[in-house]
Amino acid sequence: MILVQILQGVKAMPEKYTPGYSSNATNFMANRSVDTHAAFFTPYLRLGMKLLDCGCGPGAIALGLAKVIAPGTLTGIDTEASQIRIAAESAFTQGVSNANFLEGNIYALHFNEPCFATMESAPRWISCSSLV
Ligand SMILES: C[S@@+](CC[C@H](N)C(=O)[O-])C[C@H]1O[C@@H](n2cnc3c(N)ncnc32)[C@H](O)[C@@H]1O
Repeated sequence: MILVQILQGVKAMPEKYTPGYSSNATNFMANRSVDTHAAFFTPYLRLGMKLLDCGCGPGAIALGLAKVIAPGTLTGIDTEASQIRIAAESAFTQGVSNANFLEGNIYALHFNEPCFATMESAPRWISCSSLV
């Protein structure tokens, strides 16, 4: 009975992204790259494919992935507006035109087109059809 109550309590707790969005935490993510953190994923990539990066953070890996799949398109989503702003600015600065960044939640996606999804921070990739 106590276990059931504990589990119900945990389920009702709102999710919190514990590292937060301080400049230290954001810079840490911004210094990652496809080579250092997503090399496992590149064998699955093809030129021209559509990618959805869920939890893209400041977009460092997302932009690297966008370069690999060009002229395909990458959409990065994140719940945190500050991260989306940084990602979009980096895309502009780096001249990456096949990536766009939107506020969004992996639990409530509204994409109907088939694509390939990645969440590099917790290495796994899933087909979008299981998300929409
Ligand atoms: C550890 S960072 C990873 C950033 C980047 N993907 C990387 O690997 O460098 C995780 C990001 O996921 C975002 N996030 C957490 N929960 C999310 C959710 N439910 N939907 C979308 N993004 C989420 C956080 O805001 C954070 O920016």
